Amino acid sequence: MTENDSKSCGAEKPWGGRFEQPTDRFVEEFTASVDFDKRLAPYDIQGSIAHARMLQKIGVLTQAERDAIVSGLEQILAEIQREEFSWSVTLEDVHMNIEARLTRLVGEAGKKLHTGRSRNDQVATDIRLWLRDEIGRLLGELGRLQNALLDLAEREADTIMPGFTHLQVAQPITFGHHLMAWFEMLQRDRERLLDCRRRVNVMPLGAAAMAGTSFPIDRAYTAELLGFERPASNSLDAVSDRDFAIEFCACAALIMTHLSRFSEELVLWTSAQFDFLELPDAFCTGSSIMPQKKNPDVPELVRGKTGRVNGHLMGLLTLMKAQPLAYNKDNQEDKEPLFDTVDTLLNSLRAFADMVPHIQAKPDRMRQAASQGFATATDLADYLVRRGVPFRDAHEIVGQAVRLALQQGCDLADLPLDRLQTLSDKIEADVYRILTLEGSVASRAHHGGTAPGQVKKAIEEGRALLRPSKTHGAETK
Ligand code: ARG
Repeated sequence: MTENDSKSCGAEKPWGGRFEQPTDRFVEEFTASVDFDKRLAPYDIQGSIAHARMLQKIGVLTQAERDAIVSGLEQILAEIQREEFSWSVTLEDVHMNIEARLTRLVGEAGKKLHTGRSRNDQVATDIRLWLRDEIGRLLGELGRLQNALLDLAEREADTIMPGFTHLQVAQPITFGHHLMAWFEMLQRDRERLLDCRRRVNVMPLGAAAMAGTSFPIDRAYTAELLGFERPASNSLDAVSDRDFAIEFCACAALIMTHLSRFSEELVLWTSAQFDFLELPDAFCTGSSIMPQKKNPDVPELVRGKTGRVNGHLMGLLTLMKAQPLAYNKDNQEDKEPLFDTVDTLLNSLRAFADMVPHIQAKPDRMRQAASQGFATATDLADYLVRRGVPFRDAHEIVGQAVRLALQQGCDLADLPLDRLQTLSDKIEADVYRILTLEGSVASRAHHGGTAPGQVKKAIEEGRALLRPSKTHGAETK
């Protein structure tokens, strides 16, 4: 009996027929995926219902058998949703758990459901159905965040702040313009997700184990029932392809990378040293020892979670790199990274979409910082160029002006006209107009520039991009 104690009964397995020994109990747990793939249950059931309808259409199932299968599967879905379904590790994965329960519920008809299919095409179909839905939810959260950025950019279209290169003050910009840069990154992410969804939306079902099936299946019909764009074209590729998962993780890694850059700026800008922004209390936490602290936890955590998502992309690429065609058990390892990628990304987008509308700018602090780093030096050079000075000479003259201002401990706009004129006789009293921060941003009035008028135009264009007609409908499904 000691022997039997450490083994489970092979006869319980749908594939038990060929085996003389029961599966080792540890191996059973080691190879099982039900603990995590049960998350796919609603999609497994959706796929099975479509498969049963197709089998009836081609005459493999009677109408009565199809109806028994469909109502049995619906009952199972209800049991799972009520958390009354008892999952068994012995039955390995979500697919065999549901099939075994179906047969217990409806008898013989349940045993016929697996005709003309395999778990290999079944699982690939389930993940694609699941991911298609999740991409829809992600696009919804992404849209909420983009809209929040547009609203904030509108409020801050005229707010002056320093723009940076090398994290040194470079030129004055408007905060609205900076916010619209974040919007642009997310718009590319939106396009990438929509494009990725096209390749997710292809149906593996019908590939069966890998070579197809000897039954006269109607794959176009199943694809139509499941809302797939088309059936996959090659059965070997259909069961083994996980490009769509890798591609999705690449999109996710890039979105997280964008959120992480965004986070980095929020962390810097809420520090006492910058003090450009105030984050809502509801999105920050305090310190258990330092009573004065208000920490930007949400951005910090999102920046940290980026590492996880980037890691999952590497994990999936490595998972696939040495796999011969067609299906291999390795592929079972695709689910946990994929699930975690979706969860992490969805939560991060949600946190940002909820937080961004409550970001408070501190225009006085931003303005002060913009007026400190000689941010209008380029404007002075451009002024000289407009008066016929070659740009390189103008650059040198303005460099001297900056040195002068540094010596005097003042800004360029504070240098008296006669001092400026010692550097170039092309400088006249009207120079002070272009040395102001407002004059500087207003002068960058071309497409893509920081002038408030252009920022408002960019916001309008952004709103048009998010209108439902441009988002191919199904986003919120
Ligand atoms: N749990 C498996 C997976 O996630 C389902 C497919 C199993 N197929 C097989 N031939 N063992 O990939």
